[in-house]
Amino acid sequence: MISLIWAMDENRLIGAKDRLPWHYPLDLKYFQSLTKNQVVVMGHETYLSLKGYYKSKPLPFSKIYVANLNDYTYDDAILVKDFITFLKNNKENLWVIGGKTIYELALPYANTLYITYILNRHEGDIYIKPFSLDNYILTNKLIEPSLIFAKYERKE
Ligand SMILES: NC(=O)c1ccc[n+]([C@@H]2O[C@H](COP(=O)([O-])OP(=O)(O)OC[C@H]3O[C@@H](n4cnc5c(N)ncnc54)[C@H](OP(=O)(O)O)[C@@H]3O)[C@@H](O)[C@H]2O)c1
Repeated sequence: MISLIWAMDENRLIGAKDRLPWHYPLDLKYFQSLTKNQVVVMGHETYLSLKGYYKSKPLPFSKIYVANLNDYTYDDAILVKDFITFLKNNKENLWVIGGKTIYELALPYANTLYITYILNRHEGDIYIKPFSLDNYILTNKLIEPSLIFAKYERKE
């Protein structure tokens, strides 16, 4: 099972350099509630960004994979050099947590999408490219001030 989770604004903006362009505590809580103690995969840039947020604290996941084409080693994570083969062979309950490059590569393999729609426009420079939800059914929607939490499941 492969789940993608991300937040984007009305322009599909997801990042500002190596950070999130916004601070929505409710979205952080939502992200943490779903991914805490789970198996996650992220790109090298997102890993460095998260390390910046958590500083010396351990990242709150049970297993961490980091996708990277270089031969880096990580103290707390397993390097994934061929992300597509990794996704094709996945047998875990895997959460794909960013960023842009990794979301775009993972979308064709996703079973479930958790998208937070941010009902504002923010400043930043990293956008997720247009994508189709034709193969998905909206199975959950929660409307909050400035945010909509949506869950989509791939049609059988
Ligand atoms: N709004 C959200 O929900 C959210 C969530 C997470 C992150 N973000 C944002 O996303 C941005 C980062 O996105 P990003 O695209 O720059 O970086 P990224 O997706 O975090 O990382 C990309 C990494 O994937 C590697 N890679 C590319 N193809 C690969 C393959 N086939 N197999 C293995 N590794 C591969 C790249 O290696 P090379 O460098 O060698 O090409 C690079 O190190 C930041 O602004 C962050 O804040 C937003």
